[in-house]
Amino acid sequence: MKLVLIGAPAAGKGTQAARLVKHYGIAHISTGDMLREEVAKGTELGKEAKSIMASGGLVSDELMIAIVKERIQKDDCKNGFILDGFPRTVVQAEKLDEMVKVDKVVYINAPDDVMLERLTARQTCPKCGATYNKLFLPSKVEGICDHCATELTQRKDDTVEAGRNRIKTFHEQSEPLVGFYTEKGILIEVDGTMPIDEITNAIVKGLDA
Ligand code: AP5
Repeated sequence: MKLVLIGAPAAGKGTQAARLVKHYGIAHISTGDMLREEVAKGTELGKEAKSIMASGGLVSDELMIAIVKERIQKDDCKNGFILDGFPRTVVQAEKLDEMVKVDKVVYINAPDDVMLERLTARQTCPKCGATYNKLFLPSKVEGICDHCATELTQRKDDTVEAGRNRIKTFHEQSEPLVGFYTEKGILIEVDGTMPIDEITNAIVKGLDA
């Protein structure tokens, strides 16, 4: 199964991808996570991506296409994968079409104010990658990861200003993907304002139909 998850910042792509990879036994490819690793390691790519990500813009299509092309050839993708955060432009989607046949595209749709509220309250574990939310999915002990007891951090781009820019970038550059995949007849749209479990159920129902 080869899936694509699209949705604005904080629509719940990463949250749902983590559940779907367990359910279907496929690989999770988050281009945002891959870029954050490069930034943390201080590689050339990381240096190039750092300020773009912090301001809420997009890293170049050329770079992202090269990264994904290499990643989907790895062994863990043999049974399939979920692309979380790629494609983000029509150019990326057209190139992806040349690389693989995507089975389904899940669009998690939520209003801008919901996404802004969620992203400014998000906390992540720098060690195991678990995601929490001060308002909607708090850790058992405030500020500490339930799984590995590491202190939780906030992403640099989870501020109101960067968040607004990311949402604007989504509408301008990524939302056209909804039409692109609707025309291909492979888009499943789910209501991203529902509770997390209900969204997972709606996605699985749509994929298994
Ligand atoms: P990326 O990391 O992909 O960021 P994003 O698209 O902005 O998405 P997020 O990770 O913010 O949100 P999400 O939808 O995964 O939500 P989550 O599940 O965490 O990309 C970062 C940057 O990298 C980009 O801005 C860009 O610069 C660059 N980049 C990446 N890919 C690129 C590409 N292909 N091309 C160019 N540049 C690229 O949930 C958010 C919060 O809400 C969490 O706290 C969660 O607990 C909570 N939550 C989730 N679901 C619910 C729910 N149903 N109800 C209540 N709370 C919920």
